[in-house]
Amino acid sequence: MGIFFNKNKEKRPVGKGKVVSFLNQKGGVGKTTMAFNTAHALAQDGSRVLCIDMDPQANLSYLFDIDVSETGAPSIFQLLVNSVRELKALHRPALWTDVVCKVGNIDIIPAGQELSGFELTVSAISAPRPLLLKKFIEINALKTVYDYIVIDGPPTLGLIVVNILCASDGAMVPFRPDEFSHKGLKHFYQVLEDIDDMGIVEIPEILAHVPNLVDSRRKQEGTDLERISTTLGEEATIVDPFLNRAQLVKSQAQKKSVFDYSSKEFLPLQSKFSEMATIITDWSKEHRSEC
Ligand SMILES: Nc1ncnc2c1ncn2[C@@H]1O[C@H](COP(=O)(O)OP(=O)(O)OP(=O)(O)O)[C@@H](O)[C@H]1O
Ligand SMILES: [Mg+2]
Repeated sequence: MGIFFNKNKEKRPVGKGKVVSFLNQKGGVGKTTMAFNTAHALAQDGSRVLCIDMDPQANLSYLFDIDVSETGAPSIFQLLVNSVRELKALHRPALWTDVVCKVGNIDIIPAGQELSGFELTVSAISAPRPLLLKKFIEINALKTVYDYIVIDGPPTLGLIVVNILCASDGAMVPFRPDEFSHKGLKHFYQVLEDIDDMGIVEIPEILAHVPNLVDSRRKQEGTDLERISTTLGEEATIVDPFLNRAQLVKSQAQKKSVFDYSSKEFLPLQSKFSEMATIITDWSKEHRSEC
């Protein structure tokens, strides 16, 4: 095989931290918004939280006020490349501890535009391509350093998303209740099934489907939401919808989380994101007691 990673990887403690990703191949459904604010809700409760931006658009990094394309600093792309021996020619001296940025009480490994070349860069390696992110997390024992690793995914279903799914213990799926989401969610589940069929990893648990940007005055959305619930089946958790809220747009424009505001108008959003964090922490506790 002549590859890769760290020979001692089996000896490293796996850790009890959980990897939770925000995924949907549809664009603009609120993945980044939810990853950002839920990460803040988790950190507020004292959890050690790492965010990993796995979207070449780097919107999550932007919200944390990090722009690697401006600074030329290494990003998640370089760390993933560095973890593959076969890509030695592309290695640059960067450890994850050099790349991680601390913003308030959250750590973030940023992304940059170069992540869009990920698929091509790793296309010829013989190491298992779907497992690069998972191995990166294991090799660096990140689950022993953090309670929660929150990953923001891109609006695609390519190799990056497959890597995220293989690395995740749980996933949250924001969606807009419309006709297109209905089809999109089916494709998403197909990819999950394909990964399951590969038999190389345990697929993540879908912790919640989160209807977002809902306008309660539009009847059609209620109908579409019902249809999606039927398709997903009784066992799927669909949380109460997030309404379209101007406060979210405002907070993002200021690169702040909803918890940075003390005015009353932010209370409903704070409680919604705390609810998301509780879904994650409750599930994590259950999971831990099973271990
Ligand atoms: N509940 C909401 N109310 C108002 N605006 C929202 C809400 N949720 C998200 N938005 C806005 O919608 C836009 C898209 O959200 P976001 O970037 O989080 O989606 P995304 O799924 O990450 O998109 P992409 O697939 O492009 O990464 C952003 O401008 C965000 O501020
Ligand atoms: Mg996004």
